[in-house]
Amino acid sequence: MARVSRIDDCLSTRNGCLFIEECDTIDLIRRFGSPLFVYSEDQLRRNVRRFEKAFKRGWPDGPMKVLPAAKANWIPAIQRILADEGCGCDIYSPGELTVALNAGFDPQFVSVNGVPKDEDHIFRSIQAGVRITIDSVEEVDAIEKAARELGQVAKVRLRLKPAISDFVDHSDFVAEGLVPTDIAAMVYKGGLSFEQIMAVGPRILKMKEVELVGFHEHHGRHDRSTRYWEAQMKAFAKEMGRVCQALGGFQPQEIDIGGGFAIPRDPFNAVTDYSEPIQLGALYALSKALKVLGSSRRYRALSRLIDGIVTKPNQTPAPTIEEYAAACTGTLRRELAQERINTKGLMLQIEPGRAIHGDAGIHLTTVRNIKRMTVPIRWNVVVVDTTEFWFTGGRYEHHLHDYVFANKTDSELVDKADIIGRSCYGDRLMPAVPIPNVEVGDTLALLDTGAYQEVSMSNFNAMPRPATILVTGDQASIIRRRETEEDVLRRDVLPEHLIRDKTAGVIGETI
Ligand SMILES: Cc1ncc(COP(=O)(O)O)c(C=O)c1O
Repeated sequence: MARVSRIDDCLSTRNGCLFIEECDTIDLIRRFGSPLFVYSEDQLRRNVRRFEKAFKRGWPDGPMKVLPAAKANWIPAIQRILADEGCGCDIYSPGELTVALNAGFDPQFVSVNGVPKDEDHIFRSIQAGVRITIDSVEEVDAIEKAARELGQVAKVRLRLKPAISDFVDHSDFVAEGLVPTDIAAMVYKGGLSFEQIMAVGPRILKMKEVELVGFHEHHGRHDRSTRYWEAQMKAFAKEMGRVCQALGGFQPQEIDIGGGFAIPRDPFNAVTDYSEPIQLGALYALSKALKVLGSSRRYRALSRLIDGIVTKPNQTPAPTIEEYAAACTGTLRRELAQERINTKGLMLQIEPGRAIHGDAGIHLTTVRNIKRMTVPIRWNVVVVDTTEFWFTGGRYEHHLHDYVFANKTDSELVDKADIIGRSCYGDRLMPAVPIPNVEVGDTLALLDTGAYQEVSMSNFNAMPRPATILVTGDQASIIRRRETEEDVLRRDVLPEHLIRDKTAGVIGETI
């Protein structure tokens, strides 16, 4: 369980209760219901300012811009705060483009990433004057065609795919950590290889309606160390050098190094998903061998071993924003000089997602049931009113969020339990974690849930999704209302021949 004590944290504990800014989390649950996603406006703004300050310090040669990745949290109120802070915006989809334009970002600092990009998305992007980051050979013709039709010049960047050959530690993302980072980055869909760049680069330079303004890369959070970032920046600089030379001495006006910086408490924990089953797996041979003892002695022996299995969230902090900034800017400046790329006036952009939003958000959930089993093995299950289907972003990446029992922050940890969600799946939100003396009605706060979780919730089991609250000092406002059952069923349509009673209740639009 977390000790909430980071100095720059929006969280604090007062009289045994968790506060976010000046709001008591227990009071938030009372007012807005459970479960609840909660964001701190102040934390979000401070995160942006820290990134900006740290990267500007390391990049004195030209302008610098933070473009938070909208995919991590595209809620309009959140995007409005970021626009208000003077950020740009990294977007992926037409929907995110709509949110970004409504939020009021300066279009020249909006970068449209991703594959595939539909023709109307490309058309609207050029019309809006945003940057298109080219990530496929095919989209080049569509960009030229749309720009010609609009009578506008499309400003584009090429997304490169440099091999990080200096960093071959295992990747946190894939296959139980058995794949080296450089290979994991190469098999990911993002980016264009050198030969793909050569298939489009020289053509783009000749186009009247398309202007190449720079380069982009994003390899993501395969590893959180600054060593990884140094290797990544070196690889990016070398690839830019190779491309610039092949394009006859082209000089970029802007470069974008993507996102992937870790959240300070770093809930990413490949060990999480595997450690517990692996430890149980190690019991397998033993559990078979113990059969000779007979059933009750075997269970007694196994119970003692299983008692020793405890999973803990990551307790080592990630590098700081300042350390990431120094590693990236220092390496880039040195390596770009070697590649004869002029950094004077060159704009540096970064696209942090998790590191901007992660620790600005918490998730509050209520304990609904407690199952304590003692025979044949000792095992505790604490059932809460949220579900892993509202944490799919983190499930995919094997997160184990740190946590606090929000109404028992001062309590001793006296036991351990699986924290289980409300869906009909196993829904093992947290396997075998230490707990205080838990009671029905207690509030559990999962920390660092501000990135990717809220925006990837699903309606499994026809469950209406929870509400989202923004906290500003001692004020709390709803920024996304709780879904109703009607919302969940709104898209469903019964074909004519399945309708039994044409005068009966409404499901979907055609009845
Ligand atoms: C192009 C691009 N930029 C930025 C990000 C944000 O990454 P993170 O949230 O790890 O910082 C992503 C995430 O997938 C991405 O694809």
